[in-house]
Amino acid sequence: MRTQVAIVGAGPAGLLLAHLLQRAGIEAVVVEIRSREYAEQRVRAGVLEQGTVDVLIENGVGARLKREGLVHHGVELRFAGRGHRIDLTELTGGRSITVYGQQEVVKDLVAARLAAGAPLYFEASDVRVAGFDTDRPRVTFRHEGREHALDCDFIAGCDGFRGTCRASIPAGSLAVHERAYPFAWLGILAAAAPSRDELAYANHERGFALFSMRSPEVTRLYLQVAPDESLDEWSDDRVWSELHTRFAGDDGWQPNEGAILERGITGMRSFVAEPMRHGRLFLAGDAAHIVPPTGAKGLNLAVADVRVLARALARWYAAGEEEGLAAYSATCLRRVWRAEHFSWWMTSMLHRAPGEDSFRRRLQLAQLEYVVTSRAAATSLAENYVGMPFGTP
Ligand code: FAD
Ligand code: DHB
Repeated sequence: MRTQVAIVGAGPAGLLLAHLLQRAGIEAVVVEIRSREYAEQRVRAGVLEQGTVDVLIENGVGARLKREGLVHHGVELRFAGRGHRIDLTELTGGRSITVYGQQEVVKDLVAARLAAGAPLYFEASDVRVAGFDTDRPRVTFRHEGREHALDCDFIAGCDGFRGTCRASIPAGSLAVHERAYPFAWLGILAAAAPSRDELAYANHERGFALFSMRSPEVTRLYLQVAPDESLDEWSDDRVWSELHTRFAGDDGWQPNEGAILERGITGMRSFVAEPMRHGRLFLAGDAAHIVPPTGAKGLNLAVADVRVLARALARWYAAGEEEGLAAYSATCLRRVWRAEHFSWWMTSMLHRAPGEDSFRRRLQLAQLEYVVTSRAAATSLAENYVGMPFGTP
């Protein structure tokens, strides 16, 4: 088998890259280890930056997003018993975010690819990448009992944090920058109408809590828990009681309760491997970098990476231009590091560290107070949250 670009991983990065390449007339084959059902049901991120929404709509995969996505113009920060709204749209000259589940983006992209009859292998095994130090890279895998060898011009490593692509780059070629956090998020989806229109991020003495949503009927909620916490220790009653405690405020607002449809615990980590390229292997999305979820940046960074990569590949195929590919890593990393800083900052401001002393607590509150009372500080949060425009970090 031969193709132009072999794409490893059918998450948002791999699927969107395949779609953008197809629109540029470039052939690709996508190889994914999980089943289609698994990829489409996996509950993860929910906040799309304005730039992410624009890319999906401009490229013809935003019809359902336009119909079902919930456009938000503000977010709330809750602390010391009070809620404070940050007016994202007013502070950013008209920008906004859209709440639309990551698995919905994945469903839309899978549907577009299958409708076009373009190759996408689910449930592949033994996926290996080789030859990317030469101009004859190759991806091998097993599918439905048969061995496949896929020769290509380039490999796109879009296989997430635990994928095979980054791990196949020779040790010593990548610099790794990393931070693990001493807490995790317990996330639930509840069959309950969202009791407010916008997200609320709460800093409480007992830890962080986040109110979000997926649709007019489904609420998404998160609680800070210990990194080694077991779901067995969290009965429905305990989850709701902890959420109510952490969201309590003088306005009396609370999330609505409902049947818990899904639950999971996610560890939190910051991670960047650079450069995001080795020879003809290009890393994109979580394969190259991870952020803690507090800034809602992970999915948006994956989209930004593949947008840069698709353009660079299009220029290479159309005119033999190397410049875009040569600049790929540095171009992406400017945005990545901005998002790394923002996500780390939001995480530090909103979570309770184990053994936290009164000094750190007072600094958090001082910072929150500053963000909600200074237009300059609120603008900084808002422009990062809605996403820096493309073309800037
Ligand atoms: P992924 O979505 O991880 O896709 C990679 C794909 O590659 C997967 O389908 C995987 O099955 C496949 N793959 C792996 N190994 C191989 C292989 N060897 N061969 C072929 N395919 C392979 N971000 C937020 O902003 N907010 C959140 O609330 C949030 N929650 C999250 C919860 C969890 C449990 C996780 C893991 C991440 C969460 N994120 C969140 C981050 C966000 O979901 C990611 O940043 C986003 O999925 C990145 O997309 P991606 O395509 O780069 O990687
Ligand atoms: C959601 C996830 C986030 O990480 C975040 O910061 C905001 C919302 C969500 O899943 O809805």
